[in-house]
Amino acid sequence: MKITLSNGKVIPVEMHKTRIVQKINLQPIKRRLEAIQEAGYNTFLLRTKDVFLDLLTDSGTNAMSDHQLAAMMVADDAYAGSESFYRLADTVREILGFEYTMPVHQGRAAEHLLAKVFVKPGDVVLMNYHFTTTKAHFELAGGKVIEIFTDEAMNTESTHAFRGNLCLKKFRDCIKRYGAKKISFVRMEATTNLIGGQPFSLGNLREVKKLAAAHKIPLVFDGSLISENAYFIKERDPECRNMTVSQIISEMMSLVDILYLSARKSTCVRGGMIATNSRAYFDRLLAWLPLYEGFSTYGGMSIKELEAMNVGLREMTDYDVACASPEFIEYFVSRLMEAGLPAVTPGGGLGCHLDAKRFLPHLPQTQYPAGALAAAVYLTSGVRVMERGTVSTDRDERGNDVPADLELIRLALPRRTYSLSHIEYAVDRLSWLYRHRDLVGGLKFVEEPKVLRFFFGRMKPLNDWGTKLAKAFKADFGARS
Ligand code: F0G
Repeated sequence: MKITLSNGKVIPVEMHKTRIVQKINLQPIKRRLEAIQEAGYNTFLLRTKDVFLDLLTDSGTNAMSDHQLAAMMVADDAYAGSESFYRLADTVREILGFEYTMPVHQGRAAEHLLAKVFVKPGDVVLMNYHFTTTKAHFELAGGKVIEIFTDEAMNTESTHAFRGNLCLKKFRDCIKRYGAKKISFVRMEATTNLIGGQPFSLGNLREVKKLAAAHKIPLVFDGSLISENAYFIKERDPECRNMTVSQIISEMMSLVDILYLSARKSTCVRGGMIATNSRAYFDRLLAWLPLYEGFSTYGGMSIKELEAMNVGLREMTDYDVACASPEFIEYFVSRLMEAGLPAVTPGGGLGCHLDAKRFLPHLPQTQYPAGALAAAVYLTSGVRVMERGTVSTDRDERGNDVPADLELIRLALPRRTYSLSHIEYAVDRLSWLYRHRDLVGGLKFVEEPKVLRFFFGRMKPLNDWGTKLAKAFKADFGARS
């Protein structure tokens, strides 16, 4: 909840108290330099013992509630017929309005099943924006992913409330160009991850549905951040101001043919699911479920997590839960802007993003500015962030690098996990880095996997800039910082 202080400043205030904590370490600069070298300048390859604030992702790293933990204790562990599953299915019916529910072990497992059932070689899949695993699965099935975003989507200095909207004109053009039969489905990602967690509006979703239904194209909804998208609709669309988060979620779901989600985000557990009201779609997906995930009443998830997901689905409809992450992000963005840093605006749903092209204008995309910035941020602060740029984009069929639309780093905020003092620390060290940005150089790959190279790829700094940056840091803050 946002509170206005007596001096007029607005701060986000936690609507929960912390009763279990985990110790974290801030390694000195010398160790941080060794650690990033050992990790091949890839923040994915750091060990958490070397990480101070883990802002790599908000996926599977959120604080669970007391009710979620309690529910895990009453889980009905069974291979088949678990009562925990039936409780989940009842909740999905009540909160989301779907008759058929299928748990899967995480979001990408849902994408795998959707790709198997809906995407044939030569098909196209339309979406407001892709996610890494989404694109990889649909392309592996022989499909072509086409992103039909609006012009505003790529403007990192925007004030537009709904940069995640799908462009209806491009949707109509694609139907004309490819024919509706070639379009497996249109996918709406609730807060587009790779362009800064930006939401779409309810009005846009309604229009997408109208056009899709007119051409019998299924509407698939990636609801990994469904509650945050609903929060933004409530906050940013005056027409929805008086709706509750729960009502907005119901309204969105009434438009959707298939919902899938990674339960690791809005619902704060580790798992995923698919839900629909179409028996035909459900049966086609169910046919593959036992082969790749598990029996239909656990779908590869731990039953304990499934119980916690049941509670998480209810809790995410509470405004105080839905707002927790976006309000911290908004504060983080405003503090970075005050310090003159190129933060992506407006703040989004899963983290605060910095535009690496504006942060490091001296680096061409061929030298991976977002990758370099992610490594430099770790070095100067112990904060682990994620590259979301060309390193996260695989090469094309001919082996050429594909420059990403945007070069971003993501400082994801796990829900209910970090405090304002952590954010103030990060702002301070990022500001120092910004003042010393000329010291940051480019990267080149030394080990490069073909698919999703950002996970395991190893890189090297050009001209050993890491050592020079560490030296400058030490000169200002001392060896123990
Ligand atoms: N869809 C979206 C929008 C996601 O953000 C993710 C994961 C997935 C699907 C895949 O789900 O991880 O449960 O298999 N995003 C994580 C992230 C990995 O760090 O943003 P998953």
